[in-house]
Amino acid sequence: MNTITDKKSCRGITIANARGGVGKTFVSIHLAYMLAERRKKVLLIDTDPQGTVGLWLNMDSPATLYHLLLGESSLDDCVLRYKDKFDIIISKDYIKEAEIRMVGMVSRENLLRNRFEEFDVYNRYDFILIDTSPSLSLLNQNAYLASREVIIPVNMEPLAVVGASSIIESIKIMRKLMKHKIGLLGIVPTFVNNQSNVAKQVLNLIKANYDNVLPMIHTSVRVKEASGSFQTLNEYDPRNIIIEDMKMIVDRVLNEKKV
Ligand SMILES: Nc1ncnc2c1ncn2[C@@H]1O[C@H](COP(=O)(O)OP(=O)(O)OP(=O)(O)O)[C@@H](O)[C@H]1O
Ligand SMILES: [Mg+2]
Repeated sequence: MNTITDKKSCRGITIANARGGVGKTFVSIHLAYMLAERRKKVLLIDTDPQGTVGLWLNMDSPATLYHLLLGESSLDDCVLRYKDKFDIIISKDYIKEAEIRMVGMVSRENLLRNRFEEFDVYNRYDFILIDTSPSLSLLNQNAYLASREVIIPVNMEPLAVVGASSIIESIKIMRKLMKHKIGLLGIVPTFVNNQSNVAKQVLNLIKANYDNVLPMIHTSVRVKEASGSFQTLNEYDPRNIIIEDMKMIVDRVLNEKKV
């Protein structure tokens, strides 16, 4: 049975890039917030041991993704609500331990999907967004297998394009070897600075190599300020150009379903 797409057309989207610091967490949090503003029911899950989602939004809970994955807590125990907008499950550094314990388990790549099914998550939300760490870990594999679409943020450094290619390879492996229906929703150019020549070159490289390039996100010092004040940019600086960038991305996400 095709459990993910059969039910209520819930969309699972993993946000990934094998490179660090490319804007994955920014995109994850702001997509969650802005889809919620469009009246979508959203669950944002952090799989990253750095726990950046919880740190950014100042959300904490004793029950985290670790406890959900290992069957030690129910979904309701793990879910936090951000300002009555969207739901979050945070991670902490000890999620690495979960990964070690998962290695010996049956169906270890499918634990997250199995938990989602156990707690009817695909019926409870319109969007499940999964923020990942810059690695090719078992947790990331779980993220892919619990979702059907991938967004890859790419900053204006040539190595980030290499990081994107490695994610696209992972998607291919999921499709071929694991027969998992998953597709690239799009590449999001991030940290775009119109004045920089390198940025222009990388943008051209991205456009030349990928069909599905989503609208770009500009760079702004206000993003770090927003995270420093534990808020989304929407709350901290609603008139920032990046909010317009994100609106265009949200429109595309709502209009284009990949799988
Ligand atoms: N558009 C932007 N303009 C300026 N700063 C940004 C922008 N997007 C994100 N940042 C800042 O850059 C840093 C890296 O962003 P972010 O945490 O989203 O990247 P990441 O890919 O999730 O990193 P990691 O691989 O460590 O998880 C953060 O401090 C964030 O506040
Ligand atoms: Mg991150």
